[in-house]
Amino acid sequence: MVREWDPRTASSAEIASLLDTLNAVLAADLPQDPPWRETSMREYLAEVMPGERRISWVAQAEPAADGSPGAILGHVHVLLLGDIGVLEVLVHPAERRTGLGRDLVLTAARRVYQEGFQSIGVEVVGDTPAVAFYESLGFSKEYVETRSVLDLSGVDWAELSEMATGIGAGYHLEFHPGGPPDELIETYARAKAEVRDVEDGELRPSSYDPQRLRDSLDCLHRRGMKPYIVLALHEQTGEVAGLTEVVVPVQHPTRADQYDTIVVQDHRGYGIDRAIKARMLMELRSAEAELTEVQTWNAQANEAMLKVNAELGYRPDREWCEYSIDVAELVHRLDAGR
Ligand SMILES: CC(C)(COP(=O)(O)OP(=O)(O)OC[C@H]1O[C@@H](n2cnc3c(N)ncnc32)[C@H](O)[C@@H]1OP(=O)(O)O)[C@@H](O)C(=O)NCCC(=O)NCCS
Repeated sequence: MVREWDPRTASSAEIASLLDTLNAVLAADLPQDPPWRETSMREYLAEVMPGERRISWVAQAEPAADGSPGAILGHVHVLLLGDIGVLEVLVHPAERRTGLGRDLVLTAARRVYQEGFQSIGVEVVGDTPAVAFYESLGFSKEYVETRSVLDLSGVDWAELSEMATGIGAGYHLEFHPGGPPDELIETYARAKAEVRDVEDGELRPSSYDPQRLRDSLDCLHRRGMKPYIVLALHEQTGEVAGLTEVVVPVQHPTRADQYDTIVVQDHRGYGIDRAIKARMLMELRSAEAELTEVQTWNAQANEAMLKVNAELGYRPDREWCEYSIDVAELVHRLDAGR
């Protein structure tokens, strides 16, 4: 039975059951990824940025003979932002290939269509059943990134410490756990705006105006995702010349997520990329006792960044693709196939 589901009011048993399904999916599809924990799981599912909406549905097994609620076997949510609905679908490995995934997509797609949105996008992890699934539904591949993972136990910390100080004269680095201080928000947002073109086409919009940046940081905190920032400041102007952002989610604190790393055009060629990333790893090592890995996503064409990541010890892991489809076409196709 598929029904609309609100994580804000769902029972704790349902949240726990969804988490079990998520961890079964990870064990089947991404066995090297750490399992998720229950901490702040409700907030992770419920909290969104101002102006965005997330609508969720679950597929739940029938109640047991003693009346206790059935397990959550599948889940779909769609995040409505701009003119696109971003979809995430999970089906428990024991329940796959029965048409449940398709039913969940159709339920969400109908709503996205009713809400007047044009297209649906989805992140698809390479080498998992999701690739054949979305291709069978008519989605097309728009964009491919490579996910790389750094195992901190293999890091040469002495070498890293040298990298962190190997920055041109006239710059200094600052570490800001929790996010950039408010007095630097404007210049921080300007640095992010510079790469706006590069990031166009990605599903997750970057925050390049100061208020959106504050909102985005607040939203991360509410979802249990702790941001850490290292900045390179240009001493003469006080401008942010480079920044790197890492988030440590309480749901999987052994593996952190690298978000944006940006070196502003005028400040390239001074070793900033290498230095800010090296400094970040050193800070994380002392700030996050449980952390063992960091994962990052890069466009395959971004050779400069891939080179620095390789020097730091990142190893390519998987393709991470963005697929999309016109909503009306998807609804039509799925309805026709029923
Ligand atoms: C992708 C996923 C949702 C598919 O769910 P499902 O219930 O098995 O999908 P369906 O039964 O509706 O399959 C519909 C069609 O997709 C295609 N398909 C799905 N899985 C496939 C597979 N493993 N191999 C080939 N084709 C597949 C088939 O064409 C299938 O139709 P068919 O069974 O009549 O041949 C499920 O595998 C899943 O939850 N994956 C994890 C997704 C995810 O986001 N993971 C993130 C962390 S890894």
